[in-house]
Amino acid sequence: MVAVTSSWTEPSNTATALLLLGRGADPASERGVDCPGDLPAPSDPDLVARAAAAKSALGGRVFVLGHHYQRDEVIRFADVTGDSFKLAREAAARPEAEFIVFCGVHFMAESADILTSPEQRVVLPDLAAGCSMADMAVLGQVETAWEQFQDLGLVDEIVPVTYMNSSADIKGFVGRNGGVVCTSSNAERALTWSFERGSKVLFLPDQHLGRNTAVLQLGFSLDDCVLYDPHKPNGGLTERQLRDAKMILWRGHCSVHGRFTIDSVREVRERVPGVNVLVHPECRHDVVRAADLVGSTEYIIKALDAAPAGSSWAVGTELNLVRRMALAHPDKQIMFLDRTVCYCSTMNRIDLPHLVWVLEELVAGRVPNQIVVDPATARDARVALDRMLALP
Ligand code: 13P
Ligand code: SF4
Repeated sequence: MVAVTSSWTEPSNTATALLLLGRGADPASERGVDCPGDLPAPSDPDLVARAAAAKSALGGRVFVLGHHYQRDEVIRFADVTGDSFKLAREAAARPEAEFIVFCGVHFMAESADILTSPEQRVVLPDLAAGCSMADMAVLGQVETAWEQFQDLGLVDEIVPVTYMNSSADIKGFVGRNGGVVCTSSNAERALTWSFERGSKVLFLPDQHLGRNTAVLQLGFSLDDCVLYDPHKPNGGLTERQLRDAKMILWRGHCSVHGRFTIDSVREVRERVPGVNVLVHPECRHDVVRAADLVGSTEYIIKALDAAPAGSSWAVGTELNLVRRMALAHPDKQIMFLDRTVCYCSTMNRIDLPHLVWVLEELVAGRVPNQIVVDPATARDARVALDRMLALP
């Protein structure tokens, strides 16, 4: 282990750590998207200067959005940083920017394309920056489930809600069927809105955010929730289970937040007396229940900023963000909740060479890696996104 500051200790590397850092490739599991054009070498000592020069040449024509899980080398060039909700709003609020460079993952760039005008172009620096959770709900599977609910005469009772971390297709389905998008910072309001319109919710694709919000914020019981497995006939559920359920949770999860366990919480509480455990709601239910505070990445940052000097925090979310917060607050003891490295490998695909490449291409008059959602899907998805943006 390498001590970075007096309080920050780097988690141990796992066998896959280098791969998770985006320094390797796993052709069997990745989408196999090559970067067209000449990607600068990571060793190029002029990368920072090149990014700064290209960005300043573009001036107000470009707006760079950076999700909190991005690497430091990328986040320093963001005009705005934020959680998924804040970034969606920021994208919608920049009609003057010809190019939105989205340093985040594919579903976020899709949402930005939907929320911006047709003249604006949204660019994702590396097209392989997807999200394994978003990939766990495929439109055909959701339509099959919906037909099953239709056959049981349940669809009039069900409001579909999708987490922002889903494809534009899924958002379009939700928009067409009277539902709403939510993020980790407004899931409670989105569910309240939905239960004013129906007696059941189909929650896509993150079972944990759905369960945590329904049980810990809306007061439902675990028995009110059922898990719909798209790989099993009828989702692996009986008719009775579907009829009785309040929350039909899609069987999806975040592989990064899924690594935090109740043992991590117990272990840190034993090791660090008085520690505050602060986690993202994508963590498993038992972890969230055992934590002191839970919230979106933006919430996590605000909680750590506001914490008193000398306080101790074990944080259960992506490592780039936790490390950045620890280094920004040397007067507080901020540590990673898990003992081993836990990057989001797809967020990490966006690195400085990719950012330099897209900015220089834009300067040269070419638009690389543009994210375009087809107009019919965009129209329906926009309905669901606008409902979210209008939540009380
Ligand atoms: P928020 O930034 O909205 O909390 O989401 C976390 C996340 O997993 C993004 O992929
Ligand atoms: Fe997807 Fe999880 Fe990575 Fe967020 S942290 S982009 S949910 S895999």
